[in-house]
Amino acid sequence: MGKAMSRARHVAIIMDGNGRWAKKRHLPRVVGHQRGVEAVRKLVRAAGAMGLEALTLYAFSTENWRRPEDEISALMGLLKRFILSDLEEFAADNVRLKIIGDYKALPADVVELIEGAIARTAANTGSTLAVALNYGAQDEIARAARAAAAKGEITPETIAAELDTADLPPLDLLIRTSGEIRLSNFLLWQAAYAEMWFTDVLWPDFTPAHLEEALAAFADRERRYGGR
Ligand code: FPP
Repeated sequence: MGKAMSRARHVAIIMDGNGRWAKKRHLPRVVGHQRGVEAVRKLVRAAGAMGLEALTLYAFSTENWRRPEDEISALMGLLKRFILSDLEEFAADNVRLKIIGDYKALPADVVELIEGAIARTAANTGSTLAVALNYGAQDEIARAARAAAAKGEITPETIAAELDTADLPPLDLLIRTSGEIRLSNFLLWQAAYAEMWFTDVLWPDFTPAHLEEALAAFADRERRYGGR
């Protein structure tokens, strides 16, 4: 089999290293998260132009509740501000906003804002921005298995059809920043055949050029899906 030279349709990112970015500069962690949101904003704008159909971002995990309360509320505040400031631009750019994870457990005002944003962009047919909130892959798989069992047989196909990502293209490429080489309970099912790209760049320093670099590496890799 020759090189696939395929173009990625769905990229997911574990945005890691905001805290270390801030620490290196003797700044509070929340400043790292603020700069992280700026990196998100630039990337989302660029992703459409790169032809991606879906970009999935790990913003808050089921494990992040263990962080100090002030950091959690700062992250929620940043998320709210991000939606309030950028929603109209997404709507105009034909971007559909989607949430994966059990987001209804978030504070009520965040849930309300999220549901408004989902409804506002539901009819958009361009790219999808999927934000993982209160997301854990093991929790997602357990929920999907329960839903599949309630309908009948449990098979890989019936579970996959109940995953939070069921309406997105297959995951092609998973990126993690800041030098950690692990999945941290993110998209475990979807990563079965995804390519992985790890970089030492800390999330606030991640630019669209880094995404282009990862996409170029992806296009160059040969995917066999277990075959030869
Ligand atoms: C990892 O850095 C980052 C997070 C836990 C949160 C990611 C959230 C954002 C970038 C902002 C909110 C997102 C959106 C979509 C508006 P870390 O704190 O674990 O960094 P460290 O490992 O260096 O401490």
